[in-house]
Amino acid sequence: MSYLVTGCAGFIGMHTAKRLLERGERVVGIDSLNDYYEVALKRERVAELTASTGFRFVEGDLAEQGILSALMGEERPRRMIHLAAQPGVRYSLENPHAYIQSNIVGHLNVLEAVRHSDTVEHLAYASSSSVYGANEAQPFSEEDRVDSPVSLYAATKRADELMSRTYSHLYGMSQVGLRFFTVYGPWGRPDMAPWLFTKAILAGDPIKVFNHGEMRRDFTYIDDIVSGVVAAADMPALRGEGAERHRVYNIGNNRPERLMDFIEAIEAATGRKAEKIMLPMQPGDVFETYANIDRIGADLGFAPTTSLSEGIPRFVEWYKHRHGIT
Ligand SMILES: NC(=O)c1ccc[n+]([C@@H]2O[C@H](COP(=O)([O-])OP(=O)(O)OC[C@H]3O[C@@H](n4cnc5c(N)ncnc54)[C@H](O)[C@@H]3O)[C@@H](O)[C@H]2O)c1
Repeated sequence: MSYLVTGCAGFIGMHTAKRLLERGERVVGIDSLNDYYEVALKRERVAELTASTGFRFVEGDLAEQGILSALMGEERPRRMIHLAAQPGVRYSLENPHAYIQSNIVGHLNVLEAVRHSDTVEHLAYASSSSVYGANEAQPFSEEDRVDSPVSLYAATKRADELMSRTYSHLYGMSQVGLRFFTVYGPWGRPDMAPWLFTKAILAGDPIKVFNHGEMRRDFTYIDDIVSGVVAAADMPALRGEGAERHRVYNIGNNRPERLMDFIEAIEAATGRKAEKIMLPMQPGDVFETYANIDRIGADLGFAPTTSLSEGIPRFVEWYKHRHGIT
């Protein structure tokens, strides 16, 4: 089968494309290689993929109308995995326009390209646990109302879900939205806590601990996430009337970890103690993310197996190797 993966130079996109290539699939990946974080890291990820013969990389911005349709005409993919986005809750306070361009205009262009494609049967796209915003009931369930976002990032991800639902209703498109819960692992993102903490602890710099450490996150290891993404892309196209062809799934670990335990796992893996600066809650952040994963477990057999005590040392080892730290 052939797949089109957007955001293939990103953390989750690269691992997803790699898994498919290892299985012998044909993958065409698109990414704008924007400089939200270190472009060199994105290029290194692409280099990991171009080592496989079944891979083609195209540099391009999804916010540009027409780019995807042209690519689909050439490649004729059967399945599409849309992971490109402007991520990050905190940066959405600084640069809101980037979120509208990549997450709203980009998502619309994906929907339009799939709508007019005569080859793509099914679309799996990235949403986020941040859609649960100020939701207080735990664990977060797909049945919960999600109309209280607390960041523009979350609002764009929720808007993506609504746009997708509308396209399924109007055009019968088969789609699955995946609400990711804090993903970590090798080749991770430099703007996220595992990287920021590991970097600071190894350099002997202090780390900022928000809400005085009183936070919990449903950290999910990248290999577990990729199994869920690939299962969501490979599922039989959804049938039924209109919007029944659109489904959202939580994809998390179903095991929230205390921020302080997470820091301890990094301390253990680096063999160093962190100097902690305790700070209040940041605007736009949420206290706890905790996924109910019954639905994705039942439908797609998703069952994460990697604990922090296994996953964090793998990340730290990769980080030290990449940065030449012994
Ligand atoms: N990593 C997480 O914990 C997490 C949590 C919730 C949701 N998500 C979502 O999962 C998806 C993948 O996240 P990630 O962690 O791999 O992020 P990432 O930033 O590493 O990857 C996203 C990639 O998309 C590319 N991109 C951005 N805008 C683009 C555009 N307009 N055109 C083409 N390419 C563009 C970027 O260059 C980047 O390589 C995103 O949609 C993100 O919002 C991730």
